[in-house]
Amino acid sequence: MLKIDVHSHILPPEWPNLAEKYDDPRFPVMVNADGRHRIYKDRAFFREIWENGYDPEFRIEECQRLGVDVQVISTVPVMFSYWARPEHAHELHRYLNQHTAEICRRFPTRYAGVGTVPLQSPRLAIAELEHCIRDLGLQGVQIGSHVNDWNLDAPELFPFFEAAADLGAAILVHPWDMMGFSSMPKYWMPWLVGMPAEQSRAACCLIFGGVLERLPALRVGFAHGGGTFPFTIGRIEHGFRMRPDLVATDNNREPREYFRRLYFDSCVHDPQALQYLLDVVGEDRIMLGTDYPFPLGEQRPGEAIDALELAPRQQQRVFHGAAMEWLGLPAERFSTLAEAL
Ligand code: CO
Repeated sequence: MLKIDVHSHILPPEWPNLAEKYDDPRFPVMVNADGRHRIYKDRAFFREIWENGYDPEFRIEECQRLGVDVQVISTVPVMFSYWARPEHAHELHRYLNQHTAEICRRFPTRYAGVGTVPLQSPRLAIAELEHCIRDLGLQGVQIGSHVNDWNLDAPELFPFFEAAADLGAAILVHPWDMMGFSSMPKYWMPWLVGMPAEQSRAACCLIFGGVLERLPALRVGFAHGGGTFPFTIGRIEHGFRMRPDLVATDNNREPREYFRRLYFDSCVHDPQALQYLLDVVGEDRIMLGTDYPFPLGEQRPGEAIDALELAPRQQQRVFHGAAMEWLGLPAERFSTLAEAL
């Protein structure tokens, strides 16, 4: 069965050193020495990446071993640089998008791509989004769970979402700049506690802010199974009903109704949690997603899905049907590959 992983990250083996160019050490810098690829940020070592982080051919081989046919590639959120001067960040986004598009062009049956945009400037973000879709042939863009002081319901961001809906661009919401980052640095808590909360923050803002209500054509997918959002929907709904004066100020539609408008990846690391997700958001809303190639990702893609022993029709939906719909790709895009499998 054709398997599309909608949540996988890739970086170029090198990129322009904007920290030097703009004298701003907050820009991530790639240092290639002794055959190693190390990222520095704020003049400190941030992360090392290996072949599975930047080499598309190495990844294809690994995907073959892991049973994944197609990866939807996106950049790593550290590259978002929403804090930077918009024109400076735009340079980086443009470079990353060209890299992503080149890989998709070289290996059209193995990769699809979502780009990245400098959302701190909605004007530049729209321009880059149009470039991604019209010129580069990407399927959409990945965005952060918030943009500096703006949540996703910020009126400033609405024209961007409107452009995405008009262009038919898929949106992948990914956590970044995690809440509580500085107040809970131990035990990897920004990743274990902050990231799932960031996804709920993003979903609540898109719903309560009326963004989804006003843009019925907008296709939004959430990484990490939507974080805590689906798991706390009862509480969110209860709050909506008990205190509409606080919650329903900008949109009075029940939050649960939006599940059938959204997509969620399967990366929840627990078959019981995945079963809950399927039950509550609807089995047709879930897409295989792994967070490849990172250690917090699902190391055996689809392991939790396999554990549920879904009916073949449900498996088709989770392994590729929902992803094709979210990406807006025609069924035949990977059909040659599917037939060969
Ligand atoms: Co990720």
